[in-house]
Amino acid sequence: VIGHVIGGDERPSADGATFPDVDPWTQATHDEVALGGDHEAALAVDAARRAFDDGPWPRMSRTERGAVLHRWADLVEAHADEVALADVHDVGKVITDACGTDVPRSVSNIRFFADHARLAADERFAMDGGHHAYTSHDPAGVVVAIAPWNFPAMQATWKVAPALAWGNTVVLKPAEDSPTSATLLARLALEAGLPAGVLNVVHGFGPDGAGAALTRSPDVDRITFTGESSTGRAIMAEAARTLTPVSLELGGKGANVVFADCDLDEAVRWSVKAIFSNAGQVCLSGSRLLVERSCLDEFVERFVAAAGALAVGDPRLPVTEVGPLASRQHFDKVRRYVQVATDDGGEVLTGGARTDGSWVVDPTVVVGLEPSSAVWREEIFGPVVAVVAFDGEDEAVALANDTPYGLSAMCFTEDLRRGHRLAARLRAGNVWVNCFYVRDLRTPFGGRGDSGIGREGGLHSREFFTDAKSIVMQP
Ligand code: NAI
Ligand code: MG
Repeated sequence: VIGHVIGGDERPSADGATFPDVDPWTQATHDEVALGGDHEAALAVDAARRAFDDGPWPRMSRTERGAVLHRWADLVEAHADEVALADVHDVGKVITDACGTDVPRSVSNIRFFADHARLAADERFAMDGGHHAYTSHDPAGVVVAIAPWNFPAMQATWKVAPALAWGNTVVLKPAEDSPTSATLLARLALEAGLPAGVLNVVHGFGPDGAGAALTRSPDVDRITFTGESSTGRAIMAEAARTLTPVSLELGGKGANVVFADCDLDEAVRWSVKAIFSNAGQVCLSGSRLLVERSCLDEFVERFVAAAGALAVGDPRLPVTEVGPLASRQHFDKVRRYVQVATDDGGEVLTGGARTDGSWVVDPTVVVGLEPSSAVWREEIFGPVVAVVAFDGEDEAVALANDTPYGLSAMCFTEDLRRGHRLAARLRAGNVWVNCFYVRDLRTPFGGRGDSGIGREGGLHSREFFTDAKSIVMQP
């Protein structure tokens, strides 16, 4: 049984309840998970509260905290295979990505925020009257981190590392579909010397479960969440009662704008990555592909060939590039959208949901849809992309920005000035020109509109995970 980690102990639920952890490739239950509810949520918040109010962690120097976090990162690196396999079995993530991207990024999340917190400069202003004014950043307190299942270890560390580096204590609720790596990470953190109660993990479901209970607690000081936009609304509504600040990283429907003056090989290569990596289960993915009409045929031909050539199947095999979807429920959702694509008059050029009982959707390219189709407008979160033609920059920008979301956008052009113009005009929290997913952890990460509230990364994480205090000294 994968246990909760509360106050430094790994334990089952008080009532012994569990739920199955299903491997989406084998469809077999590979473990049982402690099913937490109100009780476990309360215990975990209480442990985090006590560790914050009375424990050493918030009172340690940034250098001392950084040393513990670096030991944690070293241990995660030493157990890289175990952490990677946890995500492979929990959500069908392909092993090459788990080992090559997710775990290294998890390690660098921890190292980055450990160093960043230690090195960040505070403000100090010399005032006209000789007073000096400065800002201190006090740890906020107890942070609840609610994580999604698409990048389990990576998302957990992206939230937990800055929260800890800035002196907070944490309750992490991983997604019900991806519990294993969270418990592993918490075990390793304890081994690294993180004091008991500083990082707690509660397993369970969201609505009416451990997740909702955590968002209602009056003893929580910050809530950071990544997941569905509707869940973000529910969490914000709960947090409003206690005026708990929230950071919400929600869904997306990224526009990928390909101009005829692009480097076509590069545009195809990145566009494939942008929608089919992690089987399209990426909030940032380029799921709306806008192609300038004069290069439409050539681009689509090459793109469809590249999509069709991806190795789809067993996520445990190093050759595999696209695995199954993370759960039966999610497979059913994506399959329905492929049906909607044809119902709405679209043509599926390659791909579609498999009918062999697996939860695989082959890389799917749809053309001929109107921008009013749900396939064009709604977050599918699978390996399904719709291609629409445009004429000229203004139409491209209008189409790209015609979405309630605003998380990511990208464009491909060899025209430097056009690249800059597009970057300015695309309404999204993250814009990539001639690439995708390249990240510098010092920069803000987050979305506009239905894609969320707040930014994390670098000093933006400090802003969220601390309480800034302004101090003025009389000379
Ligand atoms: P979700 O938003 O329901 O779940 C994400 C996390 O929130 C999980 O840990 C879940 O237990 C928790 N949660 C759910 N409802 C909650 C509540 N009322 N209070 C507190 N915690 C709650 O996402 P789900 O159902 O797993 O995926 C559904 C869709 O959401 C996907 O198909 C995709 O469109 C989108 N999604 C977007 C993600 C992103 O990175 N932006 C990540 C995961 C899902
Ligand atoms: Mg949900």
